[in-house]
Formats: sequence, C-alpha cells, structure tokens
Amino acid sequence: MAERRRVGILLSGRGSNMQALVAASRLPDARYDVVIVASDKPEAPGLAWAEGEGIVTYATSPKGRPKADYEAEIERALRGMRVEVIALAGYMRLLSPAFVERWRGRILNIHPSLLPKYKGLDTHARAIAAGDSVAGASVHLVTEELDGGPVIGQAQVDILPGDTPDTLAARVLDAEHALYPAALDRFLSR
Ligand code: GRF
Repeated sequence: MAERRRVGILLSGRGSNMQALVAASRLPDARYDVVIVASDKPEAPGLAWAEGEGIVTYATSPKGRPKADYEAEIERALRGMRVEVIALAGYMRLLSPAFVERWRGRILNIHPSLLPKYKGLDTHARAIAAGDSVAGASVHLVTEELDGGPVIGQAQVDILPGDTPDTLAARVLDAEHALYPAALDRFLSR
C-alpha cells in the first residue's frame, strides 16, 4: 500500500463527519491520515473531540481582522503539518477565491443535499417543502462558487411521510458518515 496521504480537516461545529473520517482513517487499508483538525471557532465541540483523540488541532477566529490574515494563519497551520488535501466538514465559512486557487482540486466538502439541488442552507426543509421523494448528501470539490464544484459522490435517502427537517437531517447525516470517507478514499485512489 502506498504511503498514506495527509488530510487536514476544517470544521466549525460538532464534527460528526470529521469523526467518521477519522474512524475510517484508522482502518488498516485507509489511504489517508487526518493530521490536523482546524477551526474558525475555538469553542467548536469537534475540536475538543479531535484533541481528545490526540490529533493536532488549531483554532483561530476571523473576527475583527482581514479575511486574508485569518486564512493565511489557517494555511500556515495546515502547511506546517504538510497537509495535501483539505476536507471541509461543517466548515461554515466561504473560502476566499485566493485560498481556493492555491488549493485547487485539493479541497473537498460535504453538503446535505443532492447537488445541484439546494445549495446553501436549510436544505432539508427546502426538499420537504418541494415535495421531493428523495434527499441526500453530496461530496464535491470546492470551487469559488458556494456548493458549486464538481460532485464526486452522492448518497440518497428516502423522504418519508411525516418527515420533518430534523428527522430527515438525522437520516441524511447517517448517510453522510458512510459517504464522506468512501468518497475521500476514492478521490485519493485516482
Ligand atoms: C453536515 O450536515 C454537512 O453536510 C454540512 O454541515 C453538517 C456538519 O455536521 N456541511 P457535522 O459537524 O459533521 O456533524
């Protein structure tokens, strides 16, 4: 097996997708290691979990400073750990075009809809309101356009009678936890 690739994760919140990525990275045939988890929110629960697992973490707040400074700091932390691929996992900030350009083709994101449907927020409420019979999640490459880059993997979930945005979100999240590690693994095998 070739040497494992070095993945850095950016998150802003609870980090359940990050946990799924870390769990998969610990399987014997994994193609990657999660070498750093970084956040724009020092208080993000996902960061505390990663720290508890002995993973290098880094947090810096973008508040009250130019975005370029904030992103340069995050990037220094990633490069300091020799990150090759960035996985966004509930990172609630748009990366600047300059950042995306420097990492083009090497940033993945997971989004809770069947893209190109329902970019942005409130995806489950919008899918239910539209009367859709299926929802799901997509892993895509990150470009300058919000949730707009090429899709590299999707998982579908039925929308059931009586589903609320919360019940649907919970089922989609389960599907995300299987989808993201599988899509990342496939991406790294190219
Ligand atoms: C997930 O629904 C993901 O699709 C979206 O943000 C949420 C993050 O959840 N991008 P978690 O922090 O991974 O639990």
